[in-house]
Amino acid sequence: MTVTRTPEADVLLRQDPELAEVLLGELDRQSTTLQLIAAENFTSRAVLAALGSPLANKYAEGYPAARHHGGCEIVDVAERIAVDRARTLFGADHANVQPHSGSSAVLAAYAALLRPGDTVLALGLPHGGHLTHGSPANFSGRWFDFVAYGVDAESGLIDYEQVRTLARTHRPKAIVCGSIAYPRHIDHALFRDIADEVGAYLIADAAHPIGLVAGGAAPNPVPYADIVCATTHKVLRGPRGGMLLCGGELAERVDRAVFPFTQGGAQMHTVAAKAVAFGEAAMPAFTLYAHQVVDNARVLAAGLAAEGLVVTTGGTDTHLITADPAPLGVDGRTARGLLAAAGMVLDCCALPHAHVRGLRLGTAAVTTQGMRETEMARIAVLLAGVLRGEVDGARARAETRELAEAFPPYPPYPG
Ligand SMILES: Cc1ncc(COP(=O)(O)O)c(C=O)c1O
Repeated sequence: MTVTRTPEADVLLRQDPELAEVLLGELDRQSTTLQLIAAENFTSRAVLAALGSPLANKYAEGYPAARHHGGCEIVDVAERIAVDRARTLFGADHANVQPHSGSSAVLAAYAALLRPGDTVLALGLPHGGHLTHGSPANFSGRWFDFVAYGVDAESGLIDYEQVRTLARTHRPKAIVCGSIAYPRHIDHALFRDIADEVGAYLIADAAHPIGLVAGGAAPNPVPYADIVCATTHKVLRGPRGGMLLCGGELAERVDRAVFPFTQGGAQMHTVAAKAVAFGEAAMPAFTLYAHQVVDNARVLAAGLAAEGLVVTTGGTDTHLITADPAPLGVDGRTARGLLAAAGMVLDCCALPHAHVRGLRLGTAAVTTQGMRETEMARIAVLLAGVLRGEVDGARARAETRELAEAFPPYPPYPG
């Protein structure tokens, strides 16, 4: 296992066995259960190496060649590589790779384009919007006047007519497209058209699909949105963090919105790890991976539907599936608990136009492990068997352990 096989891990084991046990325990959990959380993945060992590197020690406020600290000449190279790779990968004039998280990226996008009190149109939270899309518990809902659009009650698809009507009525300063739970491709051209009609900025929060975009398995929002916000840790398979992409005309505003407006020193080990991940995502193997993620999700969605779960929108175009387990006799929260006990780790989510919670799951992590359609079909049957109470807990746990261990996320180093 990684923790026991690297020199750094040996140091941790010797110096702080209590904490080393935590790392080993988490590695064991990740390696022996099925990671079906749609927002998670397994980074490569190269990404982990960058994250655990001495770049973690460096203070680097500012941008390459314009830092507030001395000694940045080496980390400047890392940031330039990350920016160049991101620009090339997504076809963007400008990239900012410093946001500490997806939420920080959204905050910076708003800071670049909006003033407190401005009206913003975004997908409502019960329909799949993120906290940063107007939750009253978040800065977004506190500082801006959010108006929510939704998905159609029948199809589960974004109601673009409603988006246009609300845009005409409220004349927002910005429209946000993007979701934590929408399983279909977003029509960026249509959003652009609506935004142009009312003179609004278009912000694409592509935190979820950006990895699929990198692998050519989802449409790219960059040509349509004024600013694209993203995370680097979901399907994209990089370190936890955020990123912003935009045209040259907004580059300076975006950079200043990140530093000094909303953040301090960049985390250079994470920036370097993002560069590694962008390099990996540019390889042909990642294109195959991204398409396999979608193929796997389609098979898993079809399997769940065949077992009686109500799959939102009837399927998926992406890595992400949301489903109502109610026909199997359980609500989402109970289902999540039963499945966790059986070694299937996934989330609950809001179900549009319903007062019950559903399940949200994704295929990014299991696909990284090497699982394919056969395993997805097996997972669907096992999941439904657990929810129906047909497969007892111990048998289900043994099966998920066997499946996970057949596809180790971090195979032992040889020798
Ligand atoms: C659409 C969307 N925006 C923003 C975020 C926030 O990312 P983070 O958790 O890194 O702040 C997420 C995370 O799931 C997301 O799905």
